Amino acid sequence: MSLLRLSSVLVLVSAIAPLAGCEQENTVDPEESAALTRPVAQFEFQGASNDTSSGASGAVSSGNRTGEEVYKTICTTCHATAVGGAPKTGDADAWAPRIATGYDTLVQSVVNGKGAMAPRGGSTDLADAEIGRAVAWLANQAGAQFTEPPVE
Ligand code: HEC
Repeated sequence: MSLLRLSSVLVLVSAIAPLAGCEQENTVDPEESAALTRPVAQFEFQGASNDTSSGASGAVSSGNRTGEEVYKTICTTCHATAVGGAPKTGDADAWAPRIATGYDTLVQSVVNGKGAMAPRGGSTDLADAEIGRAVAWLANQAGAQFTEPPVE
C-alpha cells in the first residue's frame, strides 16, 4: 500500500517537474541566471589563479582614488540631489558657510559623520586621503579653492 502511494507520488512529481521547469525557463531572464552563477565562477577563478588583487579591487579601496572618482562612486548619491539636507554639489550658497569653517573641519565632518551623513559617507573602506581629496573636489565645485591632496 505504501509502495503504491510512493509510486503515485513519484508519478505526480515527474509529471509536474517538467512543467515547473518549463515555466521557469520562460520567466527567468538569462541575464538574471547569469548573475546567479557568476559569484561562484569568480570564486573558483580566484582560488585557481591565486590572484586576489583583481577580484577584490571592487570591494577594497586602494586608497588611490582621486577626489572626483570618490565623489562619483560614493558622495554623488546624496550630494548630487541634496538628499537628507546635504549641501548640493556646486550650490555656492549652500556651501559658503560650510567652506568658511575650513577644510579640516569639513574633512572631520565626513570622517566622523554629520547629520544624515554617516561616518566616511557610509563607505568604511574609504581611506583618509581619499576623503580629503573628495572634500576638496566637492567644495571646489561650489567655489572653494582647496588644494586636493595629490594621489601618491
Ligand atoms: C547618505 C548621504 C550622504 C553621503 C553618501 C555623503 N554625504 Fe556629505 N553630507 C550629507 C548631509 C545630509 C550633509 C549635511 C549634514 C548636516 O550639516 O547636518 C552632508 C554634509 C557634507 C559636508 C559638509 C560638512 C560640514 O561640516 O558642514 C561635506 C564636506 C560632505 N558632506 C562631504 C561628503 C563627501 C566627501 C562624501 C563622499 C565621501 C559625502 N559627503 C557623502 C549626506 C551625505
